[in-house]
Amino acid sequence: GAPVEVKIDKIELGQLVRVEWRGSPVWIIRRTPEMLASLNETEKNLRDPDSQVAQQPVYAQNQHRSIKPEWFIAVGICTHLGCSPQFIPKSFSVAEGVESGFFCPCHGSRFDIAGRVFQSVPAPTNLVIPPYYFVDDNTVIIG
Ligand code: FES
Repeated sequence: GAPVEVKIDKIELGQLVRVEWRGSPVWIIRRTPEMLASLNETEKNLRDPDSQVAQQPVYAQNQHRSIKPEWFIAVGICTHLGCSPQFIPKSFSVAEGVESGFFCPCHGSRFDIAGRVFQSVPAPTNLVIPPYYFVDDNTVIIG
């Protein structure tokens, strides 16, 4: 599939925009400072905090799992059996102390707002980060 160019300057803080790349949904989220701060809280409850288990781009092997901390870009497919997780922008009450993240309704897998999988859920690995790069401050190319 061809790379997909996305203009990101209209995306608001806390908003998720969905695009399609190679037949898969790709999420682009402009994370708030609160969302980024919540990553310090989820750290202690993660199966793979540094994305070492599954092959991920080098730029996903950090706490925010992205090139720029504000921008989270991931394939929106649960790593368990392929359902589509829900974006929970606030009050992620199913995970104690977590402000935001993703919840998969199929079998209850939970991920933090960097797509890092929690312990004791069916999904074995973090959400997949696609290849992407920024052309300029307002434009990202996925693929
Ligand atoms: Fe998401 Fe099973 S497919 S938890």
